[in-house]
Amino acid sequence: MTYPIYLIGYMGAGKTTVGRLLAERLGWHFVDLDEAFHEIHGLSPADYIRTYGIEAFRRKEKYVVEDLAELPIEKVVYATGGGYPCWEDNMDCLKELGTSFYLRWHPHHLAQRLALTDLSERPLLHGKDANEILAVITPQLEARSPYYEQADYIIDALAEPDLPLDGSEDERIALQLYNFIRKHQN
Ligand code: S3P
Repeated sequence: MTYPIYLIGYMGAGKTTVGRLLAERLGWHFVDLDEAFHEIHGLSPADYIRTYGIEAFRRKEKYVVEDLAELPIEKVVYATGGGYPCWEDNMDCLKELGTSFYLRWHPHHLAQRLALTDLSERPLLHGKDANEILAVITPQLEARSPYYEQADYIIDALAEPDLPLDGSEDERIALQLYNFIRKHQN
């Protein structure tokens, strides 16, 4: 397995929470690429998109990922932004830079998880309940899946769409990833 590790997936997949827990267990660094973007450009991704548009954001986001990958530190877990893998050749870049894991969820689980979060930084979802969120995210997740599914590994968060969430999912996924990485570590 090559490093660093990139966690990819839709908004609400737990990339940041799982990434932080995983990095803690491994004793590695953790970098949230949305936060890194904010630090480098002085605006959160949502504000940057509102101000300069999505194309400009994607261009800058690409450079943030590639610039950070130049740092001579391998033992890093990165949480990518949800749309990053679906732009230009970004999936190819990730595969060259390290190992990618897609945190895959059924859309209605994502909708339930997103409904529990602060949506003020997610303008398309702000003010919506889980059903309304589901209607917005389903077509976008479908369009993005072919990109996400190019990841080196796919982690299915909950196998069955009708299984209820119990709040322990992020911990469980982090542990599953940790065991997998330890087993495949060179
Ligand atoms: C985006 C997801 C966000 C952030 C930006 C765009 C997307 O990241 O990068 O607002 O297009 O799905 P998270 O997936 O971390 O919320």
